[in-house]
Amino acid sequence: MQHKDPQPELVIQAPAKINLGLEILRRRADGYHDINTVFAAVGIFDEITLHRRADGLITCRVEGDPELEAGEDNLCVRAARALQAASADDSHGLDITLLKRIPMGAGLGGGSSDAAAVLAGAARLWNLRPEQGLLLDIAAGLGSDVPFFLRGGLAQAASRGEILAPVDLEFPYGVLLVNPGIHVPTPWAYRAVGRTGERPATDLVRHLRDAADDAGLLREHITNDFEAAVFAEHPVLPELKRRLYDAGAVLALMSGSGSTMFGLFSTVQAAEQAVPCFSEYWTCATGFIQ
Ligand code: C5P
Repeated sequence: MQHKDPQPELVIQAPAKINLGLEILRRRADGYHDINTVFAAVGIFDEITLHRRADGLITCRVEGDPELEAGEDNLCVRAARALQAASADDSHGLDITLLKRIPMGAGLGGGSSDAAAVLAGAARLWNLRPEQGLLLDIAAGLGSDVPFFLRGGLAQAASRGEILAPVDLEFPYGVLLVNPGIHVPTPWAYRAVGRTGERPATDLVRHLRDAADDAGLLREHITNDFEAAVFAEHPVLPELKRRLYDAGAVLALMSGSGSTMFGLFSTVQAAEQAVPCFSEYWTCATGFIQ
C-alpha cells in the first residue's frame, strides 16, 4: 500500500568529515581553487529534526551553539529554500531544529553536512523524487563541501570539491579530533596560502591503500597544503600536531582549512586513550563511518 501522507517528521544524524590529504592545485579564474582531497565521514554528528509544514513557511531553531544564527543566512534555511524553489510548490514548508555538536569554523564540514541533511530530508518529507543530479547541483550551489555529505563514507574530491568519486577502502584507524577553539575563515586560508602557478596532484587513494601495509606512507604522502600558512598564524596548531605524534598517532594532520587537528591511531580505543593528553581542548575520539 502506498502512503498518501508520508511521515511528518525526520531525525537525521549529520556527520563531520576530515580530509585525508588536501592539495591546493591551482587558483581558478572564478576565484575558487582546484583541489585534490579525500573526504572521510567520521562519527561525530549534529542532530537535525525536520517537521513538515504545509503552509510554505521555513523556520529554524538552533540548540547547542549560541553563536550560530537561525536566520535566512543559516545554511540549513538556505538549503530548504533552494529545494523549495526547485520544487516549484510554495506550500512545502519545514520546521528545522538543529542541535550543534560539531565545532564550527573548524574544518570539519559541520555546516555543509547540516545543509546536505536538510536537502535529503526535505526531499523525503515533501515527497519529492528529485534526480540525484539536481540535488547535487543544489548542494554544490550551497558550498563546495555540501555534495560530499549527500553520500558520506569515503570519497576523492576534485575541482572545487564538488566532483566526487567514491573510494572503496576499509580504513581501520581510530580518529582523535582536537579543536583549540580557533575559528579559521576558509577564504582567508586560501588567500594566506597564496597559490600561484600549479602543483601536481598526488594519487592519495593509492597511498591510503598502500598504508595498510606501511603506515609510514601516510606521513610521507598524506599532507595538507593549508598547514604552513595556517600554522604560521596559529602556533598552537603545530604544537598540537607534535603532541598528537607524542601521544602515539600514526598520522597527525589538520582537517580542511583548520583549526581542528586530527590524529589517526591504530584503533578507536587507542584514540580514546590519548584523550587525557589534550584535556584543555575540545576532543572527540571516534571512528570512520561508511
Ligand atoms: O564553497 P564554499 O562556499 O565553501 O567556499 C567558501 C570560500 O572558500 C569561497 O568563496 C572561496 O573563497 C574559497 N574556496 C576556494 N576554493 C575551493 C573552495 C573554497 O577558493 N575549492
